[in-house]
Amino acid sequence: RKPKITVVGSINMDLVTITNQMPQIGETLLGKQFQMNPGGKGANQAVAAARLGADVSLIGCVGTDRFGQEILEHLSNEGIDVSNVEPVTDQTATATITVYDTDNSIIVVPAANYHVTAAFVESKREAIANSDVLLVQLEILLEGVQKAVEIAKENGVTVILNPAPIQELPEELIQQVDYLTPNEHEQMELMRQHSGNIGDKLIVTKGSQGLSIRQDGHELNIPAYKVEVVDTTGAGDSFNGGLAVALSRGMSLKAACEYGNAVAALSTTKLGAQSGMPTSEEVAQFIQGGKN
Ligand code: RIB
Ligand code: NA
Repeated sequence: RKPKITVVGSINMDLVTITNQMPQIGETLLGKQFQMNPGGKGANQAVAAARLGADVSLIGCVGTDRFGQEILEHLSNEGIDVSNVEPVTDQTATATITVYDTDNSIIVVPAANYHVTAAFVESKREAIANSDVLLVQLEILLEGVQKAVEIAKENGVTVILNPAPIQELPEELIQQVDYLTPNEHEQMELMRQHSGNIGDKLIVTKGSQGLSIRQDGHELNIPAYKVEVVDTTGAGDSFNGGLAVALSRGMSLKAACEYGNAVAALSTTKLGAQSGMPTSEEVAQFIQGGKN
């Protein structure tokens, strides 16, 4: 049986400018290249999981504009069930991304993503209840995230919360989720907010340093794969999608993290959040190759 993964999250159009130099405030520069790519942490994680062979349902909102239309078409071409993505009278969310060298900076305008209310998520209860894993991030309303996690917990569904972008999170939410996947900055913020014992659910992603988990009271570091990096946008999303698929296939936490690592590494070899995301065959080949 295919793993069943539900993603409740953001759907953005990424407006990407590649530059050799970052502008100062008030300055105009000539850039190198411009691209418009489907993105958003929710949609990215959905695409990552779908390419790896999972049965993926996405819950979210797009605008009734042409970005929304385009993205819906794109997501269904990826094999994602978009019957729970609703067009709302607002703009589709955008992410204005500047790629400088292998780094980036991003401004997200939530627009339609902020129509994902608790009531909206409640109306999609069935899809969440019937999944193996629920994947959530923080680019939609927090009440939407909370509702999704609540439904998942009532139905014994494993929950992965990717706390990005980080914000103040209620203790109850933190306690309900099974795995938290912050980067180092988000982890520091989580530790500041929640002094309690969250160590056992933390999977901290560290870019080129790989990631760390806690196992039997010890910190375990899992190194990153070495690849030619073109664009790291969406690497975290690729990791989360890979982790969700691997866990629902019954892999151990460590093996699932290694799998997610490989998915993330491959995703960085192409420009754009989703374009480099691999199929499960490509991951298998890549891991095999690395062992030779
Ligand atoms: O995680 C990467 C994503 O963050 C991009 O696709 C962009 O939409 C931003 O939200
Ligand atoms: Na990429």
